[in-house]
Amino acid sequence: MNKRMPQWTPLSWRKRPAAQQPVYDDLRALTAVLDELRRFPPLVFRGEIEALKHHLADAGRGQGVILHGGNCAERFIDCEPGCIANQLKVLLQMSVILTHGARQPVIRIGRIAGQYAKPRSSPVEVVNGVEVPSYRGDNVHDIAASAAARRPDPQRLLQGYYRAAMTLNYVRAMIDGGFADLHHPYNWNLHSIERTREWPEYRETVEHILDAIHFMESFGGVQPSTLGRVDFYVSHEGLLLGYEEALTRRDETNGRYYNLGAHMLWIGNRTRAVDGAHVEYFRGIANPIGVKLDAQCGPEELLELLDRLNPANEPGRITLITRMGHGGVEQALPPLVRAVQKQRRVVTWCCDPMHGNTRAARGCKTRAFKDVLAEVRESFHVHARLGSHLAGVQFELTGDDVTECTGGAVRLTRKDLARNYQSYCDPRLNCAQSLEMAFLITKLLKARMARAQDTSGAGRCRR
Ligand code: PEP
Ligand code: CO
Repeated sequence: MNKRMPQWTPLSWRKRPAAQQPVYDDLRALTAVLDELRRFPPLVFRGEIEALKHHLADAGRGQGVILHGGNCAERFIDCEPGCIANQLKVLLQMSVILTHGARQPVIRIGRIAGQYAKPRSSPVEVVNGVEVPSYRGDNVHDIAASAAARRPDPQRLLQGYYRAAMTLNYVRAMIDGGFADLHHPYNWNLHSIERTREWPEYRETVEHILDAIHFMESFGGVQPSTLGRVDFYVSHEGLLLGYEEALTRRDETNGRYYNLGAHMLWIGNRTRAVDGAHVEYFRGIANPIGVKLDAQCGPEELLELLDRLNPANEPGRITLITRMGHGGVEQALPPLVRAVQKQRRVVTWCCDPMHGNTRAARGCKTRAFKDVLAEVRESFHVHARLGSHLAGVQFELTGDDVTECTGGAVRLTRKDLARNYQSYCDPRLNCAQSLEMAFLITKLLKARMARAQDTSGAGRCRR
């Protein structure tokens, strides 16, 4: 039952315990930075946020597929054209593959243009044998492994805002400039997959997509420029509450507050305490929000979160992003799905198959492609079995040729990890692994579609 809550303001989170916040030495400097941020223009527009909320509501009902992806920790040095273009490119390519599989629009959301802050399980980490404060993201401090470099510096919040603005500006320019070329499989980076044993299986999908594109290009009504027009939304974890508060603005037309620093924000698994500052902040913003849920989250806790965060049961408002680890989904997910169904809560379900599948290997973190895929598959099965709907997936990935996750058709092994391990935080699927993941999810989507057709066909026969 929804208890009557005290009045919300963009500052009301300050009265609650706030987990994972940096401790700044100079609070006056922090206040000055936040005041400056408050005067800056928004990065996104209310209409875009509401459009995304509608799309997410549709996807929750089975109309549309969510592809959410990007870096674990976006770095300030990633704010350069090559990195941004590669990230966008791989997400667009995956979305074309998924659209083909699902025969439905794909909602593209990047973990980009602001994903500069990280929650950490431990306050310290050991780098080259030296213990230093854990890296909390470029918005907080420098990556260099020394106590001095890791001292939180509020000026970096301004740097983060500027880089988010530049990144988003470039993303918008590329999209508005027409991305038809990137939709085109001729321009995809498929070389490494083409050399693998699995290629014939994936080639068929690429050929179908080519056929469809040729058909549309030769068909008068659909110009290549139409193919190049896509929607793309940006998101980040809403972790640093001072920063998020400064980008929260009241909309004069409807009186609601929006975080105008991103279209969508999510609450991390470590900061979703029902009485904590993050949930307090998030309950008052009108953006669509994600909530990460690990296998420890029980149904009562989930329902309390939904009471707080979405008392009006607004469709598209909440995306539940489960990250339970492969092998754990069958046990942990059904109680949550049943609780949502029983209480008729409107949510959009998404699977993050990355964060429950991280392992240590050779002094770094890695993830096995097969474990990631297994969690996606298990999640599809559980939702289907319970008559629920998995609307999409969230990946940590990059368009670059890194060696951070093992496996896939390109058969990266633990020995390969050192070759090009770039991540400052969690391991990402590389370009080839990401495209392959999209090919494989396409199969799951097609199987789901076939089951739905069978069921509706059977229904017609009975009538
Ligand atoms: C993340 O998405 O990078 C992350 C830290 O996830 P989680 O909160 O699920 O651990
Ligand atoms: Co991560």
